Amino acid sequence: MAIQPVKSVKIVEVGPRDGLQNEKVIIDTGAKLAFIGKLAAAGLKYIEVTSFVHPKAIPQLSDALDVVKGLPALPGMHYSALVPNLKGLERALESGIREIAVFTATSNTFTQRNINMTVNESFEAFQPVVQRALAEGLFVRGYVSTAFYCPYEGKIDSAATLDVTQRLLALGVQEVSIGDTIGQATPQDVTTTMTHLLQHVPVEKLAMHFHDTNGLALENVAASLALGLSIFDSSAGGLGGCPYAPGASGNLSTDALVGFLESQGIATGIDLNLLKEASAAIRKVLSNAEPELDDIGSLQNLAVNPRVES
Ligand code: COA
Ligand code: ZN
Repeated sequence: MAIQPVKSVKIVEVGPRDGLQNEKVIIDTGAKLAFIGKLAAAGLKYIEVTSFVHPKAIPQLSDALDVVKGLPALPGMHYSALVPNLKGLERALESGIREIAVFTATSNTFTQRNINMTVNESFEAFQPVVQRALAEGLFVRGYVSTAFYCPYEGKIDSAATLDVTQRLLALGVQEVSIGDTIGQATPQDVTTTMTHLLQHVPVEKLAMHFHDTNGLALENVAASLALGLSIFDSSAGGLGGCPYAPGASGNLSTDALVGFLESQGIATGIDLNLLKEASAAIRKVLSNAEPELDDIGSLQNLAVNPRVES
């Protein structure tokens, strides 16, 4: 099928979740809500605000319920949260959030460390979660972490990424985010893997999730746009960073993404100045906060030692 040129994009802001979960400090709920309010004011319509994961796994997001309850009710806003299991879904439903995301990966080693399950076990765990969420009328997204490279298993074959993506879609998930979790993919990797996926999966169901570890995230966006992909995850100010790779940068920055898209003639509807203010404000909060988490030492109590990446 001919590739349609991308004229508009959906940007999913993941800073309050993927960004803050990887920062070493815990900031208070009020500061998170102020950040989310500024992101919405800048024009972001899709914001992943938190995670209903185990509070010991990600202490930074243990206030998930209060965050969701405090969200500004604005027209046209889509707030979402990560949910790892039924317990998380119960908490999400209690909060009133209307969009959730489940997450798995291509590699067993990674899912074991992240969520204490093999890939197959994660699908067994998600099946009732997705079923119940859809029955409740929620929008359900799925994440495929390590879609290109795994820190343990190296280069990932596109067939493995396709397989996990198709299994998520078969569960009823409405959108699948393809994650370059450790930021190792090159534009050539993106082209190869996504060309394969697009032979089997409709383009409007796929989102791209890049980390900027090697500074290639924008080039990877360009490679994705060339294939007609038009949903991108990013994080205001490039929040995040990997706790296992000191100095590594975080998610693709929303500021950079918006600037790049506008330069390509793709309107985003986002006010770049307001976005930069939001990014600067959260950076200030983070730099004023006392480091409370000694690496991810607080995770030691858990049976699992999750890699806090997605
Ligand atoms: N929220 C709150 N508590 C939860 C929970 C959730 N989503 N899931 C499980 N728990 C509680 C259980 O109630 C149980 O409590 P109890 O001991 O008081 O009975 C305890 O945690 C252990 O439950 P179990 O099902 O054995 O979980 P686990 O220890 O195997 O952990 C996960 C599995 C998925 C909950 C945990 O690994 C996790 O939250 N990981 C998140 C990783 C992440 O967010 N990574 C970044 C995103 S990619
Ligand atoms: Zn991520």
